[in-house]
Amino acid sequence: MERGRSNVRAKRLEVFESYRELFASAPIRLMSRTVSTMQSLGYDDLATAIGDLDWRTVPADDPEDPALRQDWGALLDASFEHMGGWLRQLSAHPMGYNLDSLGYATVIKGWSEMWSHQLGLRFENVARSTPQIFVFHGGNQALQAALLGVAEARRDRVGTAEPATVLVPIPTFPCPLDQMALQGMKVHLLAPRTRGMDPDAADVAKVPEGTDIDGVYVMPVNNPTGRTLEPAKLKAFVEAVLDRWPHAAIILDSVYVRLHPRDRELLAWYEDDPRFADAIIIIDSLSKTHGVTGLRAGALLTRSERLAGGITRYAQNIMAGPSNAMQAVMLSLIAPFVTGDLELAEQRIRLQLRIGRHMQRRRRLLLRQAFMRYPKLLDHDQPLLPDPTGFDWEGSMYADLRLSDHCADLAEEAGVSPTVAFYLETGIAGVPLEGFCSNPNLKKHGLIVNDGDAALAKFQKNARRFVRLSFGMTPPPRE
Ligand SMILES: Cc1ncc(COP(=O)(O)O)c(C=O)c1O
Repeated sequence: MERGRSNVRAKRLEVFESYRELFASAPIRLMSRTVSTMQSLGYDDLATAIGDLDWRTVPADDPEDPALRQDWGALLDASFEHMGGWLRQLSAHPMGYNLDSLGYATVIKGWSEMWSHQLGLRFENVARSTPQIFVFHGGNQALQAALLGVAEARRDRVGTAEPATVLVPIPTFPCPLDQMALQGMKVHLLAPRTRGMDPDAADVAKVPEGTDIDGVYVMPVNNPTGRTLEPAKLKAFVEAVLDRWPHAAIILDSVYVRLHPRDRELLAWYEDDPRFADAIIIIDSLSKTHGVTGLRAGALLTRSERLAGGITRYAQNIMAGPSNAMQAVMLSLIAPFVTGDLELAEQRIRLQLRIGRHMQRRRRLLLRQAFMRYPKLLDHDQPLLPDPTGFDWEGSMYADLRLSDHCADLAEEAGVSPTVAFYLETGIAGVPLEGFCSNPNLKKHGLIVNDGDAALAKFQKNARRFVRLSFGMTPPPRE
């Protein structure tokens, strides 16, 4: 029995070591592209963990939503079949790339109507006016466009002597940090002071006098802590930034907002103050709402004319956005918003929320088991879990667990981080929260303007005690 356990641990250690080499400084996003690589290398443990954030995880007779598997599957089938039909048409006209621009206008209309219908906010592209919707290959590319918009707006404002500086409340989604590093942007990492690690308006005052902030990247729903920033708090944070740096752009990464039961309420403040239209860039994606990570279908929405220059040039450079094939899939997924079929549009919005609910159920089951089976490895005090007993908080796809002193001791003995010690003991693989609090490439190039700040370093160290579980990448505990 003991021997069996140590074999399991040895296998896990091997998985971890090879994983460490493969992904040393890569953003975690890379993991979702490598299921087949992992399988081919024999790491089935991680491969299953990565591959299961989707429709296949819904039981056919799911007691909480018996029709979900059928409804979700039918939507995806129809969309991908639609792509087949589109490609068959194209293959009869292999040079018929003009279809591209026909499709693009319709895709834009679909996003416009979807936002107006679901969230009550209208963005649109009107002839002879600055476009307000840009469609890209996924939220991450839309983010890249947003950062280019920030960089260009700075050059327009003060010239090219210094790169733009972006203020980033941490913990945060790591991919944008890497994109900032690639662009040579400077970054001020804003460590939170509240127990739940949410960004707070009062934190803005901590940025030293004389720091010129050109943009802020915030992720108000979900990633990485699984929490939702209350709309009044988000609004206060945005106001505090604009009071201090009126020219700053605010990138709201909202790829989870349309999965959230309080979708509309979370952004309802956007029209309260005319400064918001000029400053805010919103990022959206279909890969979260439809549970197809890797779909690469996203959009950027903004009413800002000032920030649109760099974004427009980037979009034009990548030939007006996604390929025909992607446009076909997008069109199918959002068709009811294009045709104005309100009943079907409502059904689609409900389906997105049901998909979100399914992800939550997976989280709930996993956490319940983890707490039941490994109480010694988990701290009694769980400051990031909004509901540490029922695990049933709204709109969330992630959870960050605080690991116990015992787990930290095991880590010290094995010379690994507490997150890895937790994986070796349980088979539950996560990412240390610390990985969401900095970026090795920013560090390497000296781009973190407050690197070495004592409060920041203390917070980053403390973050090592938390494991961040993402339900696409987290296998259930195994025997
Ligand atoms: C907060 C956040 N923004 C953006 C993205 C990227 O979206 P997409 O998959 O459409 O590129 C992700 C995906 O992990 C995310 O978690």
